[in-house]
Amino acid sequence: MLKKHEEAELREKIKRHLEHPRVQRMNDFSQHGSITTYAHCYRVAKWCYWVDKRLHLNSREDVLLSGAMLHDMFLYDWHTIGKMNRGHAINHAELACRNAIRYCDIDEHTQDVIRTHMWPVNITKLPRTREAVLVNIGDKWCSLVETLAFRRGMKKGKKRGKKH
Ligand SMILES: [Fe+2]
Ligand SMILES: [Fe+2]
Repeated sequence: MLKKHEEAELREKIKRHLEHPRVQRMNDFSQHGSITTYAHCYRVAKWCYWVDKRLHLNSREDVLLSGAMLHDMFLYDWHTIGKMNRGHAINHAELACRNAIRYCDIDEHTQDVIRTHMWPVNITKLPRTREAVLVNIGDKWCSLVETLAFRRGMKKGKKRGKKH
């Protein structure tokens, strides 16, 4: 994964997002288990930065990293919204994009990265740029890692529970 100095570089490049109070609100919501939406987005940004560097893809860095960090800025807890929950998978990319436009002043290429991150769930929102493809894949990979870690934690917890 990223070396220490590379992670410091990344943090500097997206500092304005990391420190933005509206972006930090993602810390209030769980994405997968104990992972907050903020931690999830940061993980996706790290993955994208790492892949882009290692494979020398020369993506537009600000589009890639802003898109990754803001891709889930929908700002609600999707586990506790009842009936709306069903629409979450379809709708949240657009909501996140609207928030990112409103609070973080992103350009149209970054908007495209956010809007297409849920393809193929949003079948018509096909990622067409390098940055959009990277965030789309990075999001799926990180979500899988987080979900598996959560399930492992649940199993361990259950086993421990049985012993007592
Ligand atoms: Fe998402
Ligand atoms: Fe995500």
